[in-house]
Amino acid sequence: MDLFEYQARDLFAKHDVPVLAGEVIDTPEAARAATERLGGKSVVKAQVKVGGRGKAGGVKLAATVDEAVEHATNILGMDIKGHTVHKVMIAETAPEIVEEYYVSFLLDRANRTFLSIASVEGGVEIEEVAATRPEAVAKTPIDPIDGVTEEKAREIAKAAKFPAEVEDKIVNVLVKLWDTFIKEDALLVEVNPLAKVASGDVIALDGKVSLDDNAEFRHPDFEELHDKAAANPLEAAAKEKNLNYVKLDGEVGIIGNGAGLVMSTLDVVAYAGESHGGVKPANFLDIGGGASAQVMANGLEIILGDPDVRSVFVNVFGGITACDEVANGIVQALKLLEDRGEEVTKPLVVRLDGNNAELGRQILTDANHPLVQRVDTMDGAADKAAELAHAAK
Ligand SMILES: Nc1ncnc2c1ncn2[C@@H]1O[C@H](COP(=O)(O)OP(=O)(O)O)[C@@H](O)[C@H]1O
Ligand SMILES: [Mg+2]
Repeated sequence: MDLFEYQARDLFAKHDVPVLAGEVIDTPEAARAATERLGGKSVVKAQVKVGGRGKAGGVKLAATVDEAVEHATNILGMDIKGHTVHKVMIAETAPEIVEEYYVSFLLDRANRTFLSIASVEGGVEIEEVAATRPEAVAKTPIDPIDGVTEEKAREIAKAAKFPAEVEDKIVNVLVKLWDTFIKEDALLVEVNPLAKVASGDVIALDGKVSLDDNAEFRHPDFEELHDKAAANPLEAAAKEKNLNYVKLDGEVGIIGNGAGLVMSTLDVVAYAGESHGGVKPANFLDIGGGASAQVMANGLEIILGDPDVRSVFVNVFGGITACDEVANGIVQALKLLEDRGEEVTKPLVVRLDGNNAELGRQILTDANHPLVQRVDTMDGAADKAAELAHAAK
């Protein structure tokens, strides 16, 4: 989960990374009150999850309360690289900025380690600096056991050639930023710019944080960081039911057990769709191993509730949960939905293989549901589901 700048600012503040005061608002009038609270001047900053807001006109200095209102009026509703601005942060104005640096910690998957990236050439996009002046960007691997001690932080500061007079302050920021990274289970914490101001202090003026969704169970407070306004309603409903669901833009609803099987199901359906009017998978949905009839019903309910779906492909490989249980699950799920008064009208193609496949197939044959068709190979079933989706177009 990527955070907005104001949320990153709050996390930094919680872990004593030096930041300026800031308040998030969503009306121009609120910009007036917030700027008054900051003593009559502020920086009006668009809150969108994309970089380069400054260049796009989404970050404006306001020398007066009226100017703040004017900037907020212009920035709210603005489109920045395809993101509409719904909120702005009214931030305290940094005292005279002397230099702008860049620091970050991230999970470096390719090298199986954590990585620090630091540069004295901050403010601008770091990718640009890395491409044009790679020598100005210091990359330092971090041992996950040792973490960032004061000693390690000093090594990073020296590698990036930060001026000696700010070294101690940079070291302090790096240690606090690492603390944020680890304690919040982040995948990325980035400060750009980390500004050196006239007094010699360094302050984080812009922050980007990405949190690890897999760690949500130990951070109940992550819940309120979700951007509910931007969430897809089907994805939100699926999340509420603890389903691993991702909405896609095709017409064939997909249910499978196991992320790998579902991924390959998306591939075979997309391939089959090429011979049936170009239909595509409508979603990713992994109901996992050991799925009960209730879970199958929940999954079917989400998929059948998607107006884009024209046919459904249930692709199950029986393992720990045998195919007969899955087949019973499908039959019960359809009954459950019909009992709830949710009329099922879309055709289902079911492919069962693996543990107790014969028994499972027999259960479906015996149930003889008018909307359910059995096809026993994955390619065959994908083709049938694509054909039905195309026919229903
Ligand atoms: N609170 C602030 N006070 C003074 N200047 C700021 C403040 N916040 C940002 N700036 C200036 O605006 C520039 C762009 O803002 P930033 O928050 O980094 O947005 P982005 O990276 O999306 O362009 C910064 O590099 C800095 O020079
Ligand atoms: Mg920035």
